[in-house]
Amino acid sequence: MLALIGGTGMGDLPGFMLERKRVVCTRHGEATILEGHLNGTPLIFLPRHGEGHTLPPHRINYRANMLALHQYGVTRIIATAAVGSLNHAMKPGDFVLISDFIDFTRERPLTIFDRPGEVVHTDFTQAYCPEIRHALERTAEPLEAPVHFGGTYLCADGPRYETPAEIRMFAHWGADVVGMTGVPEVVFAHELRICYATVAIITNWAAGISPSRLSHDEVVAIMANRRPLLLQWLSRAFQAIPQATCSSCVA
Ligand code: HPA
Repeated sequence: MLALIGGTGMGDLPGFMLERKRVVCTRHGEATILEGHLNGTPLIFLPRHGEGHTLPPHRINYRANMLALHQYGVTRIIATAAVGSLNHAMKPGDFVLISDFIDFTRERPLTIFDRPGEVVHTDFTQAYCPEIRHALERTAEPLEAPVHFGGTYLCADGPRYETPAEIRMFAHWGADVVGMTGVPEVVFAHELRICYATVAIITNWAAGISPSRLSHDEVVAIMANRRPLLLQWLSRAFQAIPQATCSSCVA
């Protein structure tokens, strides 16, 4: 079963034919998932910020979301994320297929498995599913927008944007883009052995690089502009992704 986790600007999905809405109970709380079809492909859709974008990044129940998808039989996830760019070669409007991450969050759960006696250490040598990334690469071709096939995502807690000094530090660390929601989502996907990949949409230059102050309106406007292209790409990619978990993520 395939799933799409929609970030900012992807909360309502044009073309998604909703068939069922389910509230799933997990050991870490409830999550709502939407079952339907996107351009003929059966798909589970989870709007990360809630229906109507009511949840800020630090209020999202990442554990319940990922457990709900797992309990529902989801084996593969594509997630979208709005990001700011720290890399001069990656500009607003471009897409980035994320290949690695840096965790700068401080106020979020670290693991799904935190009952007494549970000890789980997960390998992150390959943070994002190679098979989904490959399917996204293969289907990116007709896209009329630059796609970067690799980039390091730094996750900050938010909900405030970063300072210019933080952005200089993140760039020094090797980050290409910065966002607020990619971690711990990717971590829990790995812990649950779900194949997971992220397509980031650059909505702005990061703080101190941008000639102006940052605003959520700017992020939403670029997302609205890029959403049709992104949806066409994702529809093609979903058709190219095998359903079963790949051998490298299941290991
Ligand atoms: N910083 C953090 N998160 C973001 C940004 C940013 O500049 N743009 C979109 N999401």
